[in-house]
Amino acid sequence: MSNSAEGGALKKIISHCKEYGFIYPSSEIYDGPGAVYDYGPNGVELKNNIKQYWWTAMVRMHENIVGIDAAIFMHPATWKASGHIDAFNDPLIDNKDSKKRYRADVLIEEYIAGVQGKIDKEVTKAAGRFGRSFDKEQFVSTNPRVVGYTKKMKEIEDRLGSALGSGDLPAVSALIEELAIADPVSGSKNWTDVRQFNLMFSTELGSLADGAEKIYLRPETAQGIFVNYLNVQKTSRMKPPFGIAQIGKAFRNEIVARQFIFRMREFEQMEMQFFVKPGSEMEWYERWKEKRIKWHKSLALGEENYQFHDHINPAHYANAACDIEFNFPMGFKELEGIHSRTDFDLKAHEEYSGKKLQFFDQTSGESYVPYVIETSIGLDRMFLAVMSAAYTEEKPDNGSERTVLKIPPALAPNKAAVLPLVNKDGLPEKAEDILNAIRFDFSFQYDAKDAIGRRYRRQDAIGTPYCITIDHQTLDDNTVTLRERDSMKQERVSVEQLVHTLHEKVDMKPLLKSL
Ligand code: GAP
Repeated sequence: MSNSAEGGALKKIISHCKEYGFIYPSSEIYDGPGAVYDYGPNGVELKNNIKQYWWTAMVRMHENIVGIDAAIFMHPATWKASGHIDAFNDPLIDNKDSKKRYRADVLIEEYIAGVQGKIDKEVTKAAGRFGRSFDKEQFVSTNPRVVGYTKKMKEIEDRLGSALGSGDLPAVSALIEELAIADPVSGSKNWTDVRQFNLMFSTELGSLADGAEKIYLRPETAQGIFVNYLNVQKTSRMKPPFGIAQIGKAFRNEIVARQFIFRMREFEQMEMQFFVKPGSEMEWYERWKEKRIKWHKSLALGEENYQFHDHINPAHYANAACDIEFNFPMGFKELEGIHSRTDFDLKAHEEYSGKKLQFFDQTSGESYVPYVIETSIGLDRMFLAVMSAAYTEEKPDNGSERTVLKIPPALAPNKAAVLPLVNKDGLPEKAEDILNAIRFDFSFQYDAKDAIGRRYRRQDAIGTPYCITIDHQTLDDNTVTLRERDSMKQERVSVEQLVHTLHEKVDMKPLLKSL
């Protein structure tokens, strides 16, 4: 897909999300802050269903995983111990003319992407010239221009990697100058120096200015799990291997906050820390990689839309790490991280708190600090993944057009829509009886306005998997038509069977059983 086509697809999703009550920009009437979003009536239902699917799969399906809900505010020493105060930084640069702020590494990465674009163009041109006899690998490794571009890319990547790795910000500045990188908005090359920018938001705890203490909004939920390791282990009588799961808000003052809910300043994470005996961590790392990809694929958003990306140089606290990437409209990008975090966090908290965070193994008579495998998925990114795969524009056979969200039924905001064919002749009253029969089991919509075709289209646009239409025949034989969203096929179902039939079609249970 070309860049503009990718942008176009994302733009369509953004406007659809707003028009149909999924996501609105935060405090929009004031032109709200960037990269902060509110979830509307359909959005909150979809989000809750994603949470439920994750929570049930992780907590209820594993006897050795329990959940917690820790506070957002934590003792500031937490963030010293975790390394976030010293090292949770992005390299930042300002353009003096446009006053725009950028991530220096992103500017350089975009430059590299531009060089890659030139290579792609050469390849496309050559493929056209040589036709069927074209050997891409040979062309890329021998064409002088392409070889030159590839060498240049590699040099820039190496220099950027080593400058960032050693915290050498003047070297990053020098690279920007040398490559003559211009502000993408104004074209100006009048830059400030590159400096570190800590991504944590801070505020003050306490009402008196004197006694106020600087505290942070948590940038990840994981630390709430680490500091509660001993509480949970003891009160739940757990022993390794066991896990603690949590869903909650996290906050990051992202410099480059774009691409809708992909990179936000306030977002939600679904994280699980799995505590294991040192030495068994690689086996558990592989097991969690397998389990998590299975969870994703169970939703049938397209097997081809997932790939693993192994980190070649994991962070200092990890001995293995990878991302599960999803094919978003912007291309393959990180959706979930799986990290083997060693005993780094628990040991650091032992050091800063002076408390022992260990497990006493009665069989061996030894105490040890457990190693940790972490699975961490962004709830909002998962929402975007579902939306990206679900958004479909179709031209059914009769020449009409429809936009349909093919959301997995188990996650759909509304499981059914109840539609009396006409708003008279006793049909609304019958519809109300049906509503009262299904409301205890399913989220639903009721719609009695407009022609039935328009009502179906409205439900398609919000991803409702089934429409229940009450017509005159319903009054005679107590049956309704059940219309399926994706195939648009209709079948008659008896009202007595309706709740049972819907359960079979929209429940999470079959998905959970497949895990
Ligand atoms: N505890 C590990 C951790 O926080 P991370 O890779 O920084 O690791 C985990 O974040 C996940 O959180 C990511 O894979 C992504 O899905 C989500 N995430 C991170 N930053 C985000 C942001 N600014 N907006 C939305 N989601 C974000």
